[in-house]
Amino acid sequence: MSAGYKLNVLLNLYHQFRERIPFRHWRKSKPAVPVSQKPNEVKESRFERLVREYYGVEDIKNITDPVKKMWVEWSLQTVERGHCVKDIVSQHTSLEGKRYLDIGCGHGGFVVAFKQAGVSEAMGIDINPTWIECSKALAEEYHIEMPCYQKDILKSDDIDELGMFDIITCNDVIEHVPGPDAAINHIARLLKPTGLLFMEIPNKFSAAFIKSDGHFKLFGITLLPKWMADRYFNHYHPDLRHSVRYKSLGYYINIFSLEGLECEILNLRHISEETNKEGRLQKIQEMMEDCKQQAATFEGDMPMEIKGKVIRRVSTITSLFERQFNHYIALKENDERQADSFADHLILIFGEDFWRLIVKHQKSIFVNPS
Ligand SMILES: C[S@@+](CC[C@H](N)C(=O)[O-])C[C@H]1O[C@@H](n2cnc3c(N)ncnc32)[C@H](O)[C@@H]1O
Repeated sequence: MSAGYKLNVLLNLYHQFRERIPFRHWRKSKPAVPVSQKPNEVKESRFERLVREYYGVEDIKNITDPVKKMWVEWSLQTVERGHCVKDIVSQHTSLEGKRYLDIGCGHGGFVVAFKQAGVSEAMGIDINPTWIECSKALAEEYHIEMPCYQKDILKSDDIDELGMFDIITCNDVIEHVPGPDAAINHIARLLKPTGLLFMEIPNKFSAAFIKSDGHFKLFGITLLPKWMADRYFNHYHPDLRHSVRYKSLGYYINIFSLEGLECEILNLRHISEETNKEGRLQKIQEMMEDCKQQAATFEGDMPMEIKGKVIRRVSTITSLFERQFNHYIALKENDERQADSFADHLILIFGEDFWRLIVKHQKSIFVNPS
């Protein structure tokens, strides 16, 4: 399937969804609620020690490797990030008295945030035993009761015993799971008929991520097929396992639909309210231009096959953006409204680093699995 065809599919989906989404804003809500119960001031908490040891870092305040620094900071901000997502979710449903599950809970901050916000039961599951230990350490520090279990979202036996939930979050997880379709099937089974699922997924076409991907800061890796991305990654990190597989937004929406789920793309709300879309598009254009230059002088000392693929994929996508951007400029001359709508689409596809989705069962076809 060509990139142009995929883009057209997305464009159609975008128009379909745009029609149905009220232009309320969610980004304008305060970005993070300050944590009300900070853990007691201690020199180094058990949670911090576990994070530090996991990444093999001596002193978390002095990390020279930029990738490790990014990961450690991201890990330590788990509760703040949890509160951001809790704020978004609470605009779509009440939290009070609800049963909540975080899938791929990582360090446990989301479970802490939702429990603090008043859900009746908050639970986390993750495949990684170290992160489960971290979540438990965090729960102790916050004096919060929140069961966290080592479980694989791909295993029916693991999830069947959990019951069903009113609210589920799955933040930056689905791209790490080898079978996203099976995972979404299981998530649909865990979600009550009236339940709500929040998902955040990185966007492989985001100009910023093409330039430097959000996981390892590698140029162009988001545009490669998984097997080639693995080889690219292992060239720089031979001792680590590369688990990320980037899919298009249309791919996920299609799976939701096959599972009887419907989704709202939250990004469209704030994009449609941006006051300087032209400025935003120009920034994306500058970044795409940088990527084009970088592809032209790409010097990675990796096998030619991978290097060639990176260069070709980046060139294809940057040219595609260029053509679409020129189309936008032409539209502006003739039809301001159409141009405005097209700008939203361009920002969604090439400007947003993450898609944020609210997913629910389509009411008419929900079948209770139990
Ligand atoms: C990028 S981290 C995100 C962690 C957390 N959701 C957050 O946003 O801070 C991805 C998480 O997904 C977990 N994960 C990957 N595959 C999984 C699976 N099959 N079942 C459960 N968790 C999984 C990983 O162990 C990791 O903690």
